Amino acid sequence: MIAKGTTVEVISRSPAETEKAGRGLAAMLRERDLVVLSGPLGAGKTCFIRGMAVGLGVNDDEVKSPSFTLVNEYHGDKWLYHFDLYRLKDPSELYQIGWDEYLLMEGIVVVEWGERAEGYLPNKRIDIQIEIVDDQTRKILITLLNS
Ligand SMILES: Nc1ncnc2c1ncn2[C@@H]1O[C@H](COP(=O)(O)OP(=O)(O)OP(=O)(O)O)[C@@H](O)[C@H]1O
Ligand SMILES: [Mg+2]
Repeated sequence: MIAKGTTVEVISRSPAETEKAGRGLAAMLRERDLVVLSGPLGAGKTCFIRGMAVGLGVNDDEVKSPSFTLVNEYHGDKWLYHFDLYRLKDPSELYQIGWDEYLLMEGIVVVEWGERAEGYLPNKRIDIQIEIVDDQTRKILITLLNS
């Protein structure tokens, strides 16, 4: 378990290890949890979410970054709503895609490029920050905010 307000640091040395970290997080999630990922291009956000999805009983080859739709919906043991806000031009676009409704839905919402929606994210969330250390190594920082 992760204590509220604290940050857990995981060092990943391969995509498989990053997926494993995602699976580990999935085991602790409950309906309506919000997970927000940030980190540069190629950090491993989608990779982490693939692990989460597998942990929630979703077929891993279903997991791809939603490009034009901004959101993909997966159904496993729980629903998983996968947003990628990379192409978001203005946070107001969130309302056009039903962001508010998704947050109220039964299921888990996970967001790539959450920093594009700064100020529009509920305070109660799990933040995942991924840093690129080198070619194969990533630093994954998991923080439980306000829950
Ligand atoms: N330890 C690692 N964990 C995750 N990915 C790694 C690791 N080492 C190397 N990689 C590579 O980094 C890339 C991560 O890609 P991924 O699509 O998950 O990143 P992303 O953060 O979602 O990028 P984008 O911002 O473009 O959506 C993959 O090509 C993967 O093989
Ligand atoms: Mg991605």
